[in-house]
Amino acid sequence: MTPERTPTVRELLAFYLEAGVDCALAEEPANRLADPDLVPVASAAAPPKAIPVAAPVPAARVEAAQAPEAAIVSAREAARTAPTLEALRELLENFDGCALKSTATRLVFSDGNPKARIMFVGEAPGREEDLEGLPFVGRSGKLLDRMIAAIGLDRSKAYIANVIPWRPPGNRTPTPQETQICLPFIQRQIELVDPDVLVTLGNPSTQTLLGTREGIMKTRGRWFDYDTGTRTIRALATFHPAYLLRSPSYKRMSWQDLRAIAKALEQAASS
Ligand code: URA
Repeated sequence: MTPERTPTVRELLAFYLEAGVDCALAEEPANRLADPDLVPVASAAAPPKAIPVAAPVPAARVEAAQAPEAAIVSAREAARTAPTLEALRELLENFDGCALKSTATRLVFSDGNPKARIMFVGEAPGREEDLEGLPFVGRSGKLLDRMIAAIGLDRSKAYIANVIPWRPPGNRTPTPQETQICLPFIQRQIELVDPDVLVTLGNPSTQTLLGTREGIMKTRGRWFDYDTGTRTIRALATFHPAYLLRSPSYKRMSWQDLRAIAKALEQAASS
């Protein structure tokens, strides 16, 4: 059907919303038609002619949308080959199998000391992390710093990463496919850092890395064996700092978890 008039801005925004566009990716508009790396979407998926939103889908997104299984397989194969953290970071910089890469500003690989005996893993970067290229630098990151300081450590003695290394647009929850595509990379990162203690922050990270099904209320404070394939690492699930900001009454339980972590580090150091 051909519309008889040009849509109003309100109608256009309503169309965007209905099509799943719920956030602006940058301050300035980008002419994606001018980008040679982008390919047009199939005509069946194109919007009505009179609505000027035909921004093509980036090639990486088309690839990931068409072949998530293939993207998972290629992620597994690629991650396995990385001999060092630097090589893994470079591999991720060049990996086009996850659509999140095309909407993120930059890769958020890690922060802290790669030789640390403790590694914290969150879910995915937010806005500040996306802009800085470092995990946990926003409000919840400041609380994480305080949590780490409570057991006498700081970022020079801890290693921090996320299951997903690119910010999901509008901080939406990563899809199961996106998580599965990114999983081999964080698994390899854990294997290469090889900490004595692994701490999963919040439910998504806990369920993804420790294979749990219950919620964080049941899993927090529990120790798990995390098998890297070459070694078993002690892993503890605890609350995500963003959750603690929303529900400060759980800080008490979080403190218990931190004390258990400190004790496990002491034991590992003396064994
Ligand atoms: N939340 C996360 O899970 N990771 C970050 O890096 C920031 C916020």
